[in-house]
Amino acid sequence: MNQETVALVQNSWKKVAVIAPQAANLFYQNLFAADPNLKPLFKGDMDKQGKELMQMIDAAVGKLNDLETLVPILQGLAQRHVGYGVQTAHYQTVGNALLRTLEQGLNGDFTPEVKAAWTKVYGVMADVMIAASKSKA
Ligand code: HEM
Repeated sequence: MNQETVALVQNSWKKVAVIAPQAANLFYQNLFAADPNLKPLFKGDMDKQGKELMQMIDAAVGKLNDLETLVPILQGLAQRHVGYGVQTAHYQTVGNALLRTLEQGLNGDFTPEVKAAWTKVYGVMADVMIAASKSKA
């Protein structure tokens, strides 16, 4: 993850963060359209859930240059996700739904470079989380 990747993600996220509630709604629409079987895993209030998701992405994006802090946060998050019934394959589905949401939220600002940067960053986050979920088992 180089500095250009980090800057592309951080700058594009600022534009999504200002429409966070709408982005969260779009994200869950995209996610459940891609895999309706994921719906029953979400048991709580979806507005609250969407807020927590956006806050976590916000925190993670802000810490891309501080992996020493970010990695343990993601590891803890991943271990809680095992308890929510989340499986390895779901990370790909969530990644695709996130990219689609960014595309919708950013419109013309979702350039191939921005897409590549988010693909890289989500991939690193998912790798850390998947490894941490396995280490709990
Ligand atoms: C980078 C990846 C992800 C991030 C940043 C993220 C973020 C969060 C956050 C912040 C919460 C709130 C509860 C907590 O902090 O433990 C949460 C809950 C949850 N997430 Fe994720 N998540 C990610 C990946 C996934 C994936 C791959 C799935 C699979 C479908 C998933 C499904 C859920 C479910 C089912 C809950 C609990 C909902 C409930 O309590 O009703 N998440 N997630």
